[in-house]
Amino acid sequence: MSKIRIAVLCSGGGTNLQAILNAEEAGLIPHGEVTLVVSDHAEAYALKRAARYGIATAVCDRKEYPEARERERAIARVMKENGIELIVFAGFLSILSADFVKEYPRRILNIHPSLIPSFCGKGFYGLRVHEAVLARGVKVTGATVHYVTEVCDGGPILAQKAVEVRQDDTPEILQKRVMREAEWVILPEAVECVCKRLAEEK
Ligand code: GRF
Repeated sequence: MSKIRIAVLCSGGGTNLQAILNAEEAGLIPHGEVTLVVSDHAEAYALKRAARYGIATAVCDRKEYPEARERERAIARVMKENGIELIVFAGFLSILSADFVKEYPRRILNIHPSLIPSFCGKGFYGLRVHEAVLARGVKVTGATVHYVTEVCDGGPILAQKAVEVRQDDTPEILQKRVMREAEWVILPEAVECVCKRLAEEK
C-alpha cells in the first residue's frame, strides 16, 4: 500500500514539524510520509529541519510573490507538482482562500494552541493566544487539531488535549507547556489517523 504524501506548511521554527518527523521515524505514522515542507518565510528554521531529513522544500514568500493570491497559486502549484494528498498547517501564518481550501476537502489539518472555540479566530496566533488565556484567568487551556475550512479556526475538530494553567505562568512558559504536553502529542496522532482514512479510501 502506498503511503499518503504529506506536505507540512510552516512559517517559523517547525517544532510541530519535528514532532511529526519524530513520530514517522518511530514508526507511528505507517500510513503517511512527509514528502514536502513549504514555508512563506525563506529564513524559517523549519526548512533546515526538512533539509536535514532530505525532504524537498519550497519557499513561497512575500518577496517573490507580493500578492497573496499569487502566493497562494504558487503554493497550489507546488502541491500539485509533488502529488500532495494531505496538507498540514504547523505554525503556518498565511491564511489561504476558500478556493484553495475547497480543493482539499478534509485534507488540510491545522494545529491551534488553545481549546477551540476559546481563544481562536482572527488575531489569535502564537504568543497572543497564551497572553489572552492568562489575561482571562482560565485554569485550563490546551491544543486543538482541526480540519481547515473557509472559516478561520472553524473546521471540524479532530483532536484536543487539555493543559493546566499555573499561577506563575508567563505566556512563554505556558506556550512551551502547551506544545510539549499537547501539540506535539496530538498532531502526529491526528496525522496518522487521517492518513489511515485516506489510504483506506484510495
Ligand atoms: C504552535 O504553537 C502552533 O500551534 C501555532 O504556531 C506555533 C508554531 O510552532 N499555530 P512551531 O513552528 O511548530 O514550533
